[in-house]
Amino acid sequence: MDDLYRDHILDHYKRPRNFGELDPHDLAGSEHNPLCGDELAVQIRVKDGLIEDLRFQGQGCAISQAAASIASEELKGMELSAAGTLGADWMLELLGIPISATRRKCALLGLKVVRGAVSGDHDWPSGSL
Ligand code: FES
Repeated sequence: MDDLYRDHILDHYKRPRNFGELDPHDLAGSEHNPLCGDELAVQIRVKDGLIEDLRFQGQGCAISQAAASIASEELKGMELSAAGTLGADWMLELLGIPISATRRKCALLGLKVVRGAVSGDHDWPSGSL
């Protein structure tokens, strides 16, 4: 089972979905992983309270890029208000493999940038995560 998830993550890393520019867009934001300095940005188009489309840009390790790619597919069509409150468990469950404490910020970088763009909460996740 683990191999399946690893292949899934590698596939998203090698062929990231929804990466690039989105013009026009309604919301945008960028965040970095303080442990490594890697940066990720997002542009989001909103229609009728839903995420109609989004694109990520930036760079990072395989986990961060794959997580953003996997999350992007789930976020399309989601209510904007719901996207702004998604928790770490949502992202970690989507990844489906054990994530060590040191890679946790990598795994959550994509969700961090989305939450920042949607809710303005740039402090998530807190230092304890
Ligand atoms: Fe930088 Fe993972 S090492 S985001």
